[in-house]
Amino acid sequence: MKGVILAGGSGSRLYPLTKVTNKHLLPVGRKPMLHHTIDKFIESGIKDILIVTGVNHMGAVVQSLGSGHEFGCSFTYKVQDQAGGIAEALGLARDFCGDSKFVVVLGDNIFEASLVQHVNSFKDQIQGARLLLTEVDDPERFGVATLKDGKILKIVEKPDEPESNMIVTGVYMYDSSVFDFVDRCEPSARGELEITDVNNYYVSEQLCYYDVLNGWWTDAGTFESLERANQYLRG
Ligand code: DAU
Repeated sequence: MKGVILAGGSGSRLYPLTKVTNKHLLPVGRKPMLHHTIDKFIESGIKDILIVTGVNHMGAVVQSLGSGHEFGCSFTYKVQDQAGGIAEALGLARDFCGDSKFVVVLGDNIFEASLVQHVNSFKDQIQGARLLLTEVDDPERFGVATLKDGKILKIVEKPDEPESNMIVTGVYMYDSSVFDFVDRCEPSARGELEITDVNNYYVSEQLCYYDVLNGWWTDAGTFESLERANQYLRG
């Protein structure tokens, strides 16, 4: 199985830390943020990894990570010209993934659990998507899932009045039909192609499965959450 790390975007919520440095190269614990995702992939046997990042930071990301030799894996790089949204960045993985199923992780997601059992469940899944959910205190910052009888009924991106505390983390597993769904996406009010729209296409086809992530999870895209990620890793 292949892996994709999305590490584009502007990092504006961490400005001025991100004026020169890409958000995903900032330190979390004792490593650059991206290393945590790479470690999770390698632990689950995923060693063929695509990294998508923006024009301004590609040089520094390649300089930091290299070919993958140091990690015992292989990196391919793809440039996202502008921060057009997570689904747009995902669309850049089409040629890399071909017809294979694959795992996508947002580069600013930091979590405790191993991906092994989730990747294995996805390998056994014939088709569709598999999302990893977690419970948070501030669901309005995320894609919020409404669940019933073990199924996802809908996902709403950053709702003013969340229907639950269960949010979709930035760990997504897809079959190749994801690229048809990306093609169908229209820019949202914030001018981005939204990953929640992609996931809702799977929901409407009744092909969106989920697992709940064990242990702690956080994003690291704001000062508060970056601090939280560091606290978790200090343990
Ligand atoms: O962290 C989980 C959440 O991530 C989900 O619950 C939301 O449904 C999802 O939309 C996303 O929300 P954020 O508002 O936190 O996404 P953000 O714009 O901060 O982007 C997260 C990562 O995605 C970022 O670290 C790099 C990647 N990205 C983002 C954009 C906008 C790209 O690679 N390209 C982009 O254009």
